[in-house]
Amino acid sequence: MKHTAVAAANIALIKYWGTQDAERVLPANPSLSMTLRHCVSRCTVAPGANGKDEVSWLNEQGELETPPPAFLDGVLQHIERLRAYGGARMSLRVVTTNNFPTGAGIASSASGFAALTIAVCRALGYDADSEALSRLARLSGSGSAARSVLGGYVEWPGLADDPESGARQIAGERHWRLHDLIAVVNTEHKRVSSREGHRRASTSPYFATRLEHLPARHERVRSALLARDFRRLAQAVEEEAIDLHLIAMSATPPTFYWQPATLAVLEAVRRWRDDGLEVCATIDAGPNVHVLRTDAHVAQVRDALDAVTGVNHVIADEVGDGPRFVAEHLF
Ligand code: DP6
Repeated sequence: MKHTAVAAANIALIKYWGTQDAERVLPANPSLSMTLRHCVSRCTVAPGANGKDEVSWLNEQGELETPPPAFLDGVLQHIERLRAYGGARMSLRVVTTNNFPTGAGIASSASGFAALTIAVCRALGYDADSEALSRLARLSGSGSAARSVLGGYVEWPGLADDPESGARQIAGERHWRLHDLIAVVNTEHKRVSSREGHRRASTSPYFATRLEHLPARHERVRSALLARDFRRLAQAVEEEAIDLHLIAMSATPPTFYWQPATLAVLEAVRRWRDDGLEVCATIDAGPNVHVLRTDAHVAQVRDALDAVTGVNHVIADEVGDGPRFVAEHLF
């Protein structure tokens, strides 16, 4: 019996950056994201043979491969954790794949661990709701996976009074059709992982100031989203993106995720907005820029983005409706 889950990446509008407890993957602040539709991970799980777990991934050529040790260990540990959660004993065969570049600031671990958590829980016969799936996905080490178990606009509270709480949807994907044009300026694996970035964050002299300003900014993003007010959303989202990178660049040791083309895209987006287009930009822990826009000006923005010097290609995505099970299995 095989189970295949598909889960999408998400783009954080208010970022999880820094932890209050790295071991338990508890964030320093609440975060808020939009789940995407097209950038997905797919994970097929079936009972294993010989009482051993077996994990492979499908590479870009469509061949089954053993993943690199760091990824493999993370997946094996997570399977063990999920088995322990419900007391299951069954060994598993797992195959996973992404349809977008891995480790380049497009949250491949968020979608990957969300799909893995959902498919494994189903294969082990657990009746887990999205709150439970979110908590479990978070424990993979990829905190943002806690948000990818839901569609639409998703908040992961992680607040002091209930730090373990799972993510929840604040609005469905039909509430507002926002698009995310991802300007890919580099597809290589990032050199400083998010995990290391979280660890360094608190060494920035500006980290405490960030945490002070965040509740108000979070509220601005939340209310602009709920009111579908793009102008207000744009301002708060860009402030937040710059703030994350300011923390990364001023940490010890500093991390510069940006590349020259990152800045070129940011400047172009600002220019287009001044010219009246409904666009804004945000950047996760990588050099690629997520350009958000409304349903208006679709073709214009995409073509203009493609023409910015240093942009390798543009991935057109939009808000999605969350994970699903499919009948097309990977093995
Ligand atoms: C900058 O620890 O969830 O994307 O597992 O590599 O996706 P990955 O990282 P994770 O940190 C996410 C950092 C962020 C902001 C965010 O998604 O909230």
